[in-house]
Amino acid sequence: MTTQQNNDQTLPQHVAVVMDGNGRWAKKRFLPRTAGHKAGVKATRRLVELCAIKGIGALTLFAFSSENWSRPDQEVSSLMSLFVSTLNSEINKLHEQGVRICFIGDRTRFSENLQASIAAAEEKTAANTRLKLNIAANYGGRWDIVNAVRSLSRKLADGDISEEQITEQAFTRELCLVDQPEPDLFIRTGGEQRISNFLLWQIAYTELFFTDTLWPEFNDAAFDEALDWYATRQRRFGKTGDQVGDVQGRQAG
Ligand code: FPP
Repeated sequence: MTTQQNNDQTLPQHVAVVMDGNGRWAKKRFLPRTAGHKAGVKATRRLVELCAIKGIGALTLFAFSSENWSRPDQEVSSLMSLFVSTLNSEINKLHEQGVRICFIGDRTRFSENLQASIAAAEEKTAANTRLKLNIAANYGGRWDIVNAVRSLSRKLADGDISEEQITEQAFTRELCLVDQPEPDLFIRTGGEQRISNFLLWQIAYTELFFTDTLWPEFNDAAFDEALDWYATRQRRFGKTGDQVGDVQGRQAG
């Protein structure tokens, strides 16, 4: 697997994905929802490979939200088993491919078995630099923000910082993904047009792409469609179109 040179300004550096539609994919085929999640893992695996090939530096996947605990017990436990088995079966290949794995979210609620697999995967791949794969598990954007508030409050109470030092930059440093660029492109499959408590702070200027494609059907062509759409966007970050220069004839964003 070779990486394409990424000097392309129209290619996102960081892609964030809400992988939605596994259950509906299974239902359409009269299969149990767990079969949809299994098929979803295949699509996930391919996307990781595609990001590495294309030279995209970071991929953040919403694998399990803090709200997903309220699903039926059987579905939750089958998702947990799927995470453990996928991590254990894929870790060597991901390592060979230069992928660095990092979990974000409150992992303390997971079984010891899963926590051990997570820690082993992070440790094994810690020095890899080709693609940073962030897996959001038991993650919520509000949880992330509240943690940052708590941390800054502690520093303030301990006298380590002053009130004036609580800036956007200082706040950002307390969040998950602090060491990575903010996502350029957010993709949500499955037809819903919601953020669902994903990276709330980090997606302030992210381009949002929604598709009806169900996650297990998200293939090379579907990813290319999202990337082609992204390439037409003009990132303005609050400025006017004239200020940023519409040199590539992109649409005003
Ligand atoms: C949403 O579809 C999907 C999930 C809650 C699970 C996503 C997990 C995977 C694709 C596995 C990834 C594995 C690893 C190791 C990262 P849904 O069940 O809400 O679908 P529905 O909206 O059609 O019911």
